[in-house]
Amino acid sequence: MKEKILEIINLKKSYPSGTLLLKRTEVLKGININVYKGEIYSLLGHNGAGKTTTFKIITGISKQDSGEILFKGKTLNLKDKSKIGFLPERPYFYEYLTGREFLEFSANLFNLKKSKVQIEALLSLVDLKDAADVQLKKYSKGMLQRIGIAHSIINDPEFIILDEPLSGLDPIGRKKLRDLILGLKEEGRTIIYSSHILQDAEMISDRIGIIVKGKTIMEGSLEELVSGEIKEVDVSFYGVDGIPKDVDYIKVEKKSNVFYTTVKDTDEANKLIAKIIKDGGYIKFVNPVRKTLEELFWEIKDENSGNS
Ligand SMILES: Nc1ncnc2c1ncn2[C@@H]1O[C@H](COP(=O)(O)OP(=O)(O)OP(=O)(O)O)[C@@H](O)[C@H]1O
Ligand SMILES: [Mg+2]
Repeated sequence: MKEKILEIINLKKSYPSGTLLLKRTEVLKGININVYKGEIYSLLGHNGAGKTTTFKIITGISKQDSGEILFKGKTLNLKDKSKIGFLPERPYFYEYLTGREFLEFSANLFNLKKSKVQIEALLSLVDLKDAADVQLKKYSKGMLQRIGIAHSIINDPEFIILDEPLSGLDPIGRKKLRDLILGLKEEGRTIIYSSHILQDAEMISDRIGIIVKGKTIMEGSLEELVSGEIKEVDVSFYGVDGIPKDVDYIKVEKKSNVFYTTVKDTDEANKLIAKIIKDGGYIKFVNPVRKTLEELFWEIKDENSGNS
């Protein structure tokens, strides 16, 4: 069993709302997260779901009303925080500094003695060697995110929290950042990052947690989350005149005597296959079409809309 780095148990948080001091709105209603060593964990949720609030509590910027945060099995304490790197959602940069100066400044903040070589290594890790002497005000959004990540790992943390590192980037910028996150994993670090971009989560994460309106409603590997969720079944067959009469199909196509059909579920596919064989035909292939995470995500959102 892999070591659990972070465990969040039933985290709740409310903020005062309106002018009446006693009135509060609960924004986290039960967050449960388990992150294992060496993995990339995607925390997915729509705007306002509670991702940033959760990260702020882990990093100590904000405090929970109730619930526990365990770091390597023990209540997270101040000392652990030096092992955690954090890229905030809207980082603040000293825009007149160059990339290299900013990292030197970051190292000083942590009271770290970083050699020139180490700073250079960080700059090349985030692919900013060529822009090291350019002022941050001239950096693109993607470059700023990458220098922000370099800043978040200046203290060589084993666990890194990235709040929306991929948002607002063009496809190339996203690819660069995904590769950077994968590189951090290869170095043996554990990463949790938030996003509402499902495709990126499907591409790089080992495990995924989904937050809807302040609650984690699902957690697991991509395979676990979508397994068993067979949507439709593609069945291809030949050696018969057409699709048997009483089979309910969504679509059917015929190409050089081979039929390609889609039926609504496995029961219908079984019925079709049995008939084809009984009628002396042959099955070319059967392909269950699984739900994508995106379909699952939207379904969850629809199911939960309304109950706040
Ligand atoms: N300081 C605060 N005071 C009052 N309400 C807050 C505060 N911070 C966050 N909220 C509310 O808590 C809810 C969750 O916000 P949060 O920023 O955690 O969501 P998020 O999942 O990070 O969203 P996004 O994808 O937009 O970044 C929102 O309804 C937000 O308005
Ligand atoms: Mg946020």
